[in-house]
Amino acid sequence: MSINIPRGTQDILPGEVEKWQLIERKARELCERYQYHEIRTPIFEHTELFHRGVGDTTDIVQKEMYTFKDRGGRDLTLRPEGTASAVRAYVEKKMFGLANQPVKLYYMGPMFRYERPQAGRFRQFVQFGIEALGSSDPAIDAEVISLAMNLYKELGLKKLRLVINSLGDKESRNAHREALIEHFKPRIGEFCSDCQTRLEKNPLRILDCKQDREHPLMKTTPAITDFLNNNSREYFEKLQKYLNLLDIPFVVDPNLVRGLDYYNHTAFEIMSEAEGFGAITTLCGGGRYNGLAEDIGGPETPGIGFALSIERFIAALDAEGIELNLNEGIDCYLVSLGEEAKEYTVGLLQQLRQAGFSAERDYLDRKIKGQFKAADRIKAKFVAVLGDDELKNEVINLKDMTSGEQKEIKLDSFIKVFQELQDRGGL
Ligand code: HAM
Repeated sequence: MSINIPRGTQDILPGEVEKWQLIERKARELCERYQYHEIRTPIFEHTELFHRGVGDTTDIVQKEMYTFKDRGGRDLTLRPEGTASAVRAYVEKKMFGLANQPVKLYYMGPMFRYERPQAGRFRQFVQFGIEALGSSDPAIDAEVISLAMNLYKELGLKKLRLVINSLGDKESRNAHREALIEHFKPRIGEFCSDCQTRLEKNPLRILDCKQDREHPLMKTTPAITDFLNNNSREYFEKLQKYLNLLDIPFVVDPNLVRGLDYYNHTAFEIMSEAEGFGAITTLCGGGRYNGLAEDIGGPETPGIGFALSIERFIAALDAEGIELNLNEGIDCYLVSLGEEAKEYTVGLLQQLRQAGFSAERDYLDRKIKGQFKAADRIKAKFVAVLGDDELKNEVINLKDMTSGEQKEIKLDSFIKVFQELQDRGGL
């Protein structure tokens, strides 16, 4: 019996993986421009980190984590997201003491959530995320948002919608919390058991319950924006001012609460508005998490970041019909006939590759026609043909596959000539 891939995971094969590589390259390049530096943290962490970081009452922690005991009896969890790990490393490695502040980090790698798989929702997915720690200037909130928007735009996405909200500071959140309890309490019996426990522990989480979404009380919930104190309101206004300054269009949605507990002040999501994108339209989510470093044992540190998945990025590109400009085709394919010529290409291939060219030869003992077909399939820009006769005369026949032109070249100057004609752009 054959063994299949686990549900909610993907094999990304050659042909498709080039899209991933391009997005990843672009993300790294953008981080360089914005001065975010890569951090690599473990794929698994102590389970406690996510309980404290992401929050006990969230769907992620309650229902979606891949948690296991290792052989030493330790409670470990495959990371469901990257912020808690980045902040754990920031605290543990005392990055708050670095001379260069704020600390601006980025990461890229697989995350794991036991969710119901559907279009755009996987159990293993790859997030690219950034975190800026140590600044509570709303200008950096705008910078974080602009990096995400620019990444999407530079790869051609147009149908984007940026939604922002403020979740306020502690005082504003407490006032909102009381209002939520008052709102839901009289009819909490009509809600799912999770929401019933959330009522006292964390009523905000009721708002992103997937089960009770249609309950009439959900449509009239008190909005956080009505409870923002002056400080929080000013912060939110400044963010909007900066977004306007950066020419980034946005809409304010007072119901945007995000599914993780660590947020305060800025919360945002970027959605795809492409037709036929599917039910899940959120491409990217993020926000400010000023209390998180403290919650996991570090000093009081302001922070903000976002994460987006490459899976949904590619789905959005597909939905907008955007073909990425992938660097396709190889520089040279070596066609050979005759035993000696075949042997000779082993060394010649090596020389081409060492000179920095992408090059290939036949390994299946194909006839000359088959070798040309193989060269075509991998979109060779040049084909060099070497037979035993050419070998005797110490020449090789080079064909420019774009123009169809051919030229005989001295074998001992082949690499040099090949290099020169690359600079010229053809034969
Ligand atoms: P999140 O909203 O849970 O936030 O996830 C961020 C993004 O990850 C989503 O917008 C989506 O693109 C992608 N994503 C989440 N779950 C899945 C899935 N099952 N399949 C495919 N893609 C998925 C966070 O993870 C926060 N750590 C973001 C953040 C960073 N906030 C501050 N800093």
